[in-house]
Formats: sequence, structure tokens, C-alpha cells
Amino acid sequence: MADEVRDEYEEVNKKIRARMDKIGRKIMIMSGKGGVGKTTVTVNLAYELAKMGCKVGVLDTDLHGPNVAKMFGVEDKSLSSRDGVTILPVKVRENLVVMSLSFALEDPDAPVIWRGSLKMSAIRQFLSDVEWGELDYLLIDTPPGTGDEQLTVCQAIPELTGTIIVTTPQPVAILDARKSVNFSRKMGVAIIGVIENMSYLRCPGCGEEIPIFGKGGGRKMCSEMHVPLLGEVPMEIDLRSAEDEGKDWMDEGISHPSAEALKAIANEINNGTACSTSRDTSFLGTPSCSPSACASCTSNCPSRKK
Ligand SMILES: Nc1ncnc2c1ncn2[C@@H]1O[C@H](COP(=O)(O)OP(=O)(O)O)[C@@H](O)[C@H]1O
Ligand SMILES: [Mg+2]
Repeated sequence: MADEVRDEYEEVNKKIRARMDKIGRKIMIMSGKGGVGKTTVTVNLAYELAKMGCKVGVLDTDLHGPNVAKMFGVEDKSLSSRDGVTILPVKVRENLVVMSLSFALEDPDAPVIWRGSLKMSAIRQFLSDVEWGELDYLLIDTPPGTGDEQLTVCQAIPELTGTIIVTTPQPVAILDARKSVNFSRKMGVAIIGVIENMSYLRCPGCGEEIPIFGKGGGRKMCSEMHVPLLGEVPMEIDLRSAEDEGKDWMDEGISHPSAEALKAIANEINNGTACSTSRDTSFLGTPSCSPSACASCTSNCPSRKK
């Protein structure tokens, strides 16, 4: 690396450091396969954590398919700046802000045709130049896989609290989710846990559980790979339609099994009862894992299921 390029890189690193120092937990949501529910999980965990009183930021690093703004119902908002240099994230609620490349695109149908180096610069700029302020959580949504975006996040935030891996129970999704587990391990990042999404669909007629993507795949993988299962989230039409309309469907006062599952996961994360499996578990506080969430956890929590 030429000297000037290295200096500039280090300068951005310093800015990222300063911004990240003001943020409590930085969590990257990832999956091997696309369409398994990463953005759904990110958006709904953000809503729940914000409702618990936490200050939450969401960073959308899915540069080719940025859906976060649409799911929050803020896709029409545009970016602003106080000083012409730094960028203010878009406010979803008083204590919930979001940053996505989609706010900077004039035509929502225009494809973003970028190579790795450009993607790396964009993500580093989101971390360095966005005025995140003091936050309890920064949730980082990613595209599928273990490529430029995930690598950039891990390298730019070495103190990343951990990853949440989303999968469906389907064997092809599990095959790819295993790679996300091993990616986190290779990067030395703690795995907060796995969320199995689309675990089943309840038949509106007879009430039977229909295992559209198979059954028990997430639990089996967690047990084989010794990572915690944070929860199983069923498929629901209301969840899908709320996301298309950009609504917080957990707010509607109706009890939905998917909402309950996501709420329980947000609680476990925020109360420190979610077990993490490698590096730095100090953020979890006094470990007191709930057996339902930690059936396959191998950490040293006293209450871990033997
Ligand atoms: N539990 C669920 N029930 C119903 N629809 C879901 C559920 N999880 C995700 N979806 C829908 O599936 C699609 C893919 O989810 P998304 O969160 O965009 O996945 P990813 O970010 O992994 O690509 C979206 O249309 C979303 O609304
Ligand atoms: Mg997504």
C-alpha cells in the first residue's frame, strides 16, 4: 500500500474507532443463503430493543439489495448533514436510526454495480462518517455469504460483539449457514447464536404445522456445531405483509407466534441470557442461560443444559 493510501486508511480507522467507542454492542446479522430472513430479523430485533428503551442504530450493508429502509417504512426519506461532511442517519423513531445506501439512490430500480474495493469504502464510510452518536446497539444487516461486506465489517470493527446467524431449517440453507459459523470462528468473532426462521407455517384452516422448509434443521446444526439456538420463528402472512407495508407489526396488539419468538430473542440478547460461544463473553454479564435458548450451548454458563 502506498504511503498516502495507508495514511488515509488509518485516518478512516481512527474515525471509525471514535464512532464505535460510543456504541455499546455491535452485532452483525448474517446468513449463508439469501432470502432466509436476515433483514426481517434485523428490523424486528431493532424495533423490540428500541421498545425496551435502548438506543438502536441499524446499518444496511446489503448494497446490492438494500431492503432495510423499505421494511422500516422510511424509504422516502433522504439523507441530511449538519456540516456538509458527516451524514445524519434517518430517524425511524426517537431512539431508532438507520443508514442505508438506498437513501442515496435516486432511482430505486437502479442496480448498484460495484466491485469489492468500492463496497469496502462505502461500508467504512457508513461507519466513519455517519453520526451514530451514543447507541446501545448497532445492528448490521448484511447480504448473504461471507464476502467483502462481512469481511469489511469484521476488520473495521475488531471489537464486534458477535454475529447472529439466520437460517431456515432447509438442508441447503443449513449447508450455507455452517459456513457463516465457521467464518465467525475464523474471524475470531463471538457467535451470539442462530435463529431458525420460517420454521413452519400454521395452516389457517386446520391449525396444523406445515414444515415447508423441513423440520429441526437449525436445532440439529446448532447441536452439531456447538452454537446456541436463539429461537425458532414461524412463517406468517401478516409478518410478510407488514414488512412490505413498512409497518411494525409487533405493535398491533395481536399475539403472533413469530412476534413472540422475536421478542423472546430480543429479551435474551438484551438481558444477557443469550450465550455466546467464543471470544469475549463479558458483555453477557452474569451467565444464566435459559435452557430453551441454550440447548446446545457449550460455554461455561452454570445453567447450561448438559
Ligand atoms: N417468518 C416469516 N414469515 C413470513 N415472511 C417472512 C418471514 N421471514 C421473512 N419473510 C419474508 O421473506 C422474504 C425474505 O426475507 P428477508 O428478511 O428479506 O431475507 P434476507 O434478508 O435474508 O434476504 C421477505 O419478503 C420477508 O418479508
Ligand atoms: Mg436482506
